[in-house]
Amino acid sequence: MSWFFNPKSLRTLSRIPAQIPTSRHLIRGSQNSSPILPQSYRQKSTMIKTSAHFKVGENFDEIQASRPNFQRDAGVTYSKPPKPDWKEGDGANDGGESLKKQHIEIDPYEEGRPVSSNYKLLISGIVPRPIALISTKSKDGKTANLAPFSYAQVINHDPPLFTVGFVGSLEKAKDSLKNLAETQECVINIISEHFVEAANAAAVNAPYGVSEWEISGLHQAPSSVVQAARVKESILSIEGKLVETKEFESKATPGKKTGVLAIIEGVRFWVREDAVDEEKSVIDLKVLKPISRLGGLAYGRTTDAIELPRPKF
Ligand SMILES: Cc1cc2nc3c(=O)[nH]c(=O)nc-3n(C[C@H](O)[C@H](O)[C@H](O)COP(=O)(O)O)c2cc1C
Repeated sequence: MSWFFNPKSLRTLSRIPAQIPTSRHLIRGSQNSSPILPQSYRQKSTMIKTSAHFKVGENFDEIQASRPNFQRDAGVTYSKPPKPDWKEGDGANDGGESLKKQHIEIDPYEEGRPVSSNYKLLISGIVPRPIALISTKSKDGKTANLAPFSYAQVINHDPPLFTVGFVGSLEKAKDSLKNLAETQECVINIISEHFVEAANAAAVNAPYGVSEWEISGLHQAPSSVVQAARVKESILSIEGKLVETKEFESKATPGKKTGVLAIIEGVRFWVREDAVDEEKSVIDLKVLKPISRLGGLAYGRTTDAIELPRPKF
């Protein structure tokens, strides 16, 4: 059992919303003390955990142990698309099956619906999400910070622009946002399979001033135009300058600031030399082996791809 499962190290994690399963829940599950599910159900679900996700109250260690080993050499397989003979107007490729299903309408603020249900629905439904492992430096330059964020996306290439969504307010900002707002700088590092555990460990809510670099075991490499270091292990890192932030107010608790959007301009790219072509343009998926964020505790791999030609009118 690693340090991350130590309840002592989690006592300070007050800012993790209650709905996010933390090590605390995992420990509770592994002690077989779940009031939620009977033992028979847990045993049954342990056996099927190659195709279903972990649920709070289940025995995480048992489920993890029952799963097949990680296939490090899985590579990338390009297969045919589902309907290679698809032609204009054909619509879905499932023979009309999806048209027989009904939908449920959800008002995100309907009576009795907790905001945590919106969180769970969005992070499990908007998948896979890229993860920005953000490196920042404090304004006084004394402390370095590292943390993953999956409300993250590239939104333009001229100029290269990225968005990151920080849960919480500017006033009580997460350390990364505080540093980003005060220094206007950061490095966005893309997470690959070879350091997924380390990147996950950097999510620990260490008090301000405590660096997650040591906790993660990742290595700092010098950046060129920003003070924050880039992650040496990362295949792709982007030095960024803050363009602007926009703060959002809660609808469930009016007056409370609950989210901050940061728009960041990429001013330098760092790509591992064996991952990029001679024109310094295309990154090889087989080398990048990106890790994405799914719902709950799950991360995704990109080991299967299909290709479709871009349509012309
Ligand atoms: C994979 C992953 C993705 C995350 N994405 C976000 C996110 O998009 N926004 C956010 O506010 N927190 C996100 N978190 C939680 C932060 O990483 C966590 O709050 C961290 O402690 C923040 O660190 P900091 O205070 O040093 O900035 C994510 C955590 C993980 C493990």
